[in-house]
Amino acid sequence: MAYNLLKGKRGIIFGALNELSIAWKVAERAVEEGAEILLTNTPVSIRLGTINQLAEQTGALVVPADATSVEDLQNLVDTALEHFGGKIDFVLHAVGMSPNVRKNIPYEDTNYQNMLKTIDISALSFHKLLQTLYQKDAMAEYGSVVSLSYIAAQRTVIGYNDMADAKALLESITRSFGAIYGKTCGVRVNTVSQSPTMTTAGQGIAGLGEWFEMADEISPLGNASADDCADYVVTLFSDLTRKVTMQNLYHDGGFSNMAISPSVIEAYGKGKISE
Ligand SMILES: NC(=O)c1ccc[n+]([C@@H]2O[C@H](COP(=O)([O-])OP(=O)(O)OC[C@H]3O[C@@H](n4cnc5c(N)ncnc54)[C@H](O)[C@@H]3O)[C@@H](O)[C@H]2O)c1
Repeated sequence: MAYNLLKGKRGIIFGALNELSIAWKVAERAVEEGAEILLTNTPVSIRLGTINQLAEQTGALVVPADATSVEDLQNLVDTALEHFGGKIDFVLHAVGMSPNVRKNIPYEDTNYQNMLKTIDISALSFHKLLQTLYQKDAMAEYGSVVSLSYIAAQRTVIGYNDMADAKALLESITRSFGAIYGKTCGVRVNTVSQSPTMTTAGQGIAGLGEWFEMADEISPLGNASADDCADYVVTLFSDLTRKVTMQNLYHDGGFSNMAISPSVIEAYGKGKISE
């Protein structure tokens, strides 16, 4: 159901690779809610993925940009301002990648060149994006910038590897930049800490299949899907959340506040979980 929550708003959406992507679902929901959007991804992801199909479906312009390149981000923001004919109301940063995870290199044997790339792509790119938007005075008052995080920023999830460190930095940048952006321009900056989700990036995490099922079992409301995430993100883009900023907002069916779950105890008792 649509509520016209984003009627007249204009936004940039990073990270739609294919229809499994969380960003893909956010793009669809934003347009359903009345927004005009511009899509962006790296040239290689545009070539290998199916973003052009989404662009056709949503009437969006696609502008290639590597989120680690300030030059690309500057070009992207300039293009968006010109294309929209005015300031930007919302931005979704759904960007993440770890070469260490991709290459199955364990955390205790980290390749530091890879780790620097993980941090650049998954965390610093958010600072670069915010700084570009800020310096170009590109966001409308009460504009909203959202990135996607994961609970491994707070609690150890073995296998999430150096992405956990990147997410911790991402959430810190959200607070630090959010304070400045809120005070000077009235712009909101938040992260949504999403349940494990079966996307291309998600499937790269070792053991995600079992972890996905276990998190679903432990969460009182079950895992939040990519569609659920899109619903939540749309509210953060809307005028209904104008005083929400500098937050890491758990969107995980309650998982983050659970300690012991009866179903896990039962599974342990039946020998399904062992040391
Ligand atoms: N899938 C999950 O379980 C889960 C859970 C919590 C948070 N997240 C986060 O959600 C975000 C979106 O991931 P997803 O799960 O939808 O997977 P996805 O693979 O569909 O999206 C990741 C996107 O990052 C883009 N990307 C990678 N390097 C980039 C770069 N240098 N510049 C610009 N874009 C780049 C990819 O092209 C891709 O579109 C990520 O930040 C991810 O960490 C995912």
